[in-house]
Amino acid sequence: MENLPAMIPHNRPLITGADKQAVADVLESGYIAQGPEIAALETDFIDIYGGGAACAVSSGTAALFLALKGMKIGVGTSVAVPTYSCSSLLNAVHMVGATPLVVDVRKDDFTIEAVALEQHAKVVDAVIAVHSFGARADIAALQHLNIPVLEDCCQSIGGMFKGRPMGSDGTSAVFSFYASKIVTGGQGGMIWDRTGAVSEAARDYREFDCREEYVPRFNLQMTDMQAAMVRSQLRRLSDIRARRQKIHGIYRARLNSSLGIQQGLEDKDRLPHRFVVRFPDLEAREAAKRKFEVAGITVIVPIERYELLHRYLGLDPDEFQVAESLADTTLSLPLYPALQDSDIARVADVLSDVRKTILANP
Ligand SMILES: Cc1ncc(COP(=O)(O)O)c(C=O)c1O
Repeated sequence: MENLPAMIPHNRPLITGADKQAVADVLESGYIAQGPEIAALETDFIDIYGGGAACAVSSGTAALFLALKGMKIGVGTSVAVPTYSCSSLLNAVHMVGATPLVVDVRKDDFTIEAVALEQHAKVVDAVIAVHSFGARADIAALQHLNIPVLEDCCQSIGGMFKGRPMGSDGTSAVFSFYASKIVTGGQGGMIWDRTGAVSEAARDYREFDCREEYVPRFNLQMTDMQAAMVRSQLRRLSDIRARRQKIHGIYRARLNSSLGIQQGLEDKDRLPHRFVVRFPDLEAREAAKRKFEVAGITVIVPIERYELLHRYLGLDPDEFQVAESLADTTLSLPLYPALQDSDIARVADVLSDVRKTILANP
């Protein structure tokens, strides 16, 4: 039988010998629940941000939930969220008892459209700004509306803005260490804030056991095994940034133009989480998807139509035309440090072919 090249997955974590050793050391120590590695991971974040406070939790969703609570968001309040994002945002808003206000995104970089929020600014108590696939949301424009901003850095850890790590400017920032994220412990999450008020409220919730006064709380703790793995990966964050930027640049060069891809990631300060190509229409997108699949490359629709937050809430799709169009016309290509150079070349070659045969902008 013919020897076909191995299928290239859309994502695969790079687990180094150092990562394995870090986890093994925790196992060896006998302290495997929340312990010294969690405390050290929080200190790592405080160091990265040059101050403030941090609280590690079980997931990015838990971080969103607790950050909102720490920002005093609850029953009777309203939180703006971009529709082109993940259901975790909606879950967190609902779990604190608040009402979501779903907003469309910008067609160039897929981040929340501040202009669409202007008319609601007076009735919104907070906004979750997702740095979509590493592209930075316009935090200043949101703050200009006098709305407290929760920066969702689940897809942007390691990205910089004006010499500071992304997440520095809002009331608080949250992170995810899920398997497909830039640094991972399998699962896990983090809250960081400059004043410490949000992180300390989260910590108070997180320490659920052996409390003198009873308040119902979920166990949202992260383990030391996860923290050790995340810490090990954080130590090579600049290598991760360089590798991801390199792959992004190689793919970008094959498109010969900045058109046809998500904007906002070409800056050397950004850390690209994904490489998202835009096609003229659904038919072209599906044709390209088939080409990649035939070549043994797994590509995904980054956010399907049915996942758009306004659709979950049964809102009128006509009010969210950018997100509707993105869901129909985008594809995400493999972009992660575990890709071999030969894998990257294979993806890039198919991309060139797709550009010549399918994309409207050669
Ligand atoms: C933008 C964004 N926010 C929040 C989350 C939730 O993170 P987690 O999967 O760790 O709960 C994710 C990841 O799925 C995400 O991509």
